[in-house]
Amino acid sequence: MNDTPSLPPVNTPPATAPTGIKPGVTHPKTIKSFVRRAGRTTTGQAKAFEDLGPLYVMPYASQALDLAAVFGRSAPTVLEIGFGMGEATAHIAALMPETNFLCCEVHQPGVGALLKRIGEQGLTNIRIVSHDAVEIMDHMLKPDQLDGIHLFFPDPWHKKKHNKRRLIQPPLVARLATRLKPGGYLHCATDWQPYAQQMLQVLSAEPLLANSVAQHEGEGYAPKPHYRPLTKFENRGLKLGHGVWDLVFLRR
Ligand SMILES: C[S@@+](CC[C@H](N)C(=O)[O-])C[C@H]1O[C@@H](n2cnc3c(N)ncnc32)[C@H](O)[C@@H]1O
Repeated sequence: MNDTPSLPPVNTPPATAPTGIKPGVTHPKTIKSFVRRAGRTTTGQAKAFEDLGPLYVMPYASQALDLAAVFGRSAPTVLEIGFGMGEATAHIAALMPETNFLCCEVHQPGVGALLKRIGEQGLTNIRIVSHDAVEIMDHMLKPDQLDGIHLFFPDPWHKKKHNKRRLIQPPLVARLATRLKPGGYLHCATDWQPYAQQMLQVLSAEPLLANSVAQHEGEGYAPKPHYRPLTKFENRGLKLGHGVWDLVFLRR
């Protein structure tokens, strides 16, 4: 593992809560886009947690983040929602060292896996919040703050009765769009065609967003941007003949 870089402390709990939410008061129960899966944390992931967690994992707090203080520099910042095991996250962060990546994931082994990659690759431009990205967006991010948002292969919630758990729905997209700076981008990718169609419909209907590609005759999907790697998961699907759809929309 590389030497741990020196970083500003990030795990100081906030003194006060903004947006009218009292500290210690639980949020009203809402439909979540995830169920917490059981999963084994490997010895390597546990060690990464111990060594790097205090530097790179920030607690959730109902308080707007000072991104420059959190990353120790002012730089363009991208929010990643649901990074899974962090394969694409680490790849992109290495490719774009000049960009800060604020990454959310609720699956603990995934957080350990990304921390392990951070250590192995000596990455300094990632911070992790292990919490519901919807609450992070609502309470930790301010309007016009982000340069980009990555949402790669969000849970498709195949069954009709579960579709309501999908992240890309009009109210959430409207809130996400406000967090982007004008000119910032929202990049979604999915391998589930009905969800791709829903994404295209919902994103196209959001007044604050404009498709980065010309949209005619039902098309409007973007070519895969160069920075998004083909992950093991995606490659397996492609070999089986499954499609993948990228959507890149820009904040007006
Ligand atoms: C299908 S996986 C895809 C992971 C990764 N993006 C990839 O491309 O391999 C979706 C991930 O999103 C996470 N997730 C779902 N809803 C979330 C939320 N509201 N906040 C944070 N993470 C979430 C899940 O725990 C899961 O790991």
